[in-house]
Amino acid sequence: MRSKLMVGNWKMNGSLADNASLVSELLAGMAGVHCRAAVCVPTAYLAQLQNLLSGSSIELGAQDVSAHDFGPYTGEVSARMLQDFAVRYCIVGHSERRMHHAESDVLVAAKAQRALAAGITPIVCLGESLAEREAGQTEAVVKRQLAAVIHANGHCISEIVVAYEPLWAIGTGLTATPDQAQQLHAVLRAQLQAASAHADRVSILYGGSMTAATAAQLLAQPDVDGGLIGGAALKASEFLSMLAMASR
Ligand code: 13P
Repeated sequence: MRSKLMVGNWKMNGSLADNASLVSELLAGMAGVHCRAAVCVPTAYLAQLQNLLSGSSIELGAQDVSAHDFGPYTGEVSARMLQDFAVRYCIVGHSERRMHHAESDVLVAAKAQRALAAGITPIVCLGESLAEREAGQTEAVVKRQLAAVIHANGHCISEIVVAYEPLWAIGTGLTATPDQAQQLHAVLRAQLQAASAHADRVSILYGGSMTAATAAQLLAQPDVDGGLIGGAALKASEFLSMLAMASR
C-alpha cells in the first residue's frame, strides 16, 4: 500500500522572512500528520530550507535540475549540487518549464535520469493542454511524455514519482474531477506496469488547483496517491488541512 505523498510546489515565490514564517506555521501543525510531505522550493532558498526543515518530517525538494553533470552551463544547477543540500525530491518537466523554457520530452527524461543517479527522486510532471483535451488527445499526450521517461530510465522506473497536472487546471481554479483524474492515473499506472514489475510502488500525484475543498475526493481515488500543490501550499492552514486529509 502506497502512503500518500503531498508536495508543495512553491514555484517562484517566497523570501527569507516569508519562508521562515510559513515553515514555522507548518511545523507547529504537523502533529497528527502521517502522510509523506515535502516542499519544492526555489534554488536560492535550498540552504535556508535545509536548515529550517532539519529534524522535521517535511522533506526538501527542488523545482528543476540540469541534464548535465557539471561544466559550462551558466545558470544551471546539477543533481550533485542538490545532493549537497540533502534534497530528497526534484520536480522535472513541470509544464511551466516545458512551456516557457521549451523543455522537450527527451530533455525531461534526461533530467529524471540525472536525479535518479544522484539518489534524488524525480517528480515527473505530465499533462495535456485544453486544446489537446478538446481534440481527444489527452491519453496520447501523457503516454508520449511518460514513454520518453520510461525509455531513458527503464530499469529504475519504479523509483520515480509521477505528477499528472492538466495544464488547464494549473493556477486556474479549475480542478480535474475525481473521475477525470482517476481515469488518467489508471492509464499511467497501466503504462508503468507494462514497463516494470514494481510499478505499484510508483506514487502518481494529481496537480492543478488542488485545495482543501477538492483534495479529499481526489485523494479517495484508488490511483491518486497524493498531490502536487501550487498556490494552496503557500498558505500554511490550507496545506496543513490537505496533509490531514491525506493522513486518514
Ligand atoms: P496550482 O495548485 O496553483 O494550480 O499549481 C499546480 C502546480 O502547477 C503544481 O506543480
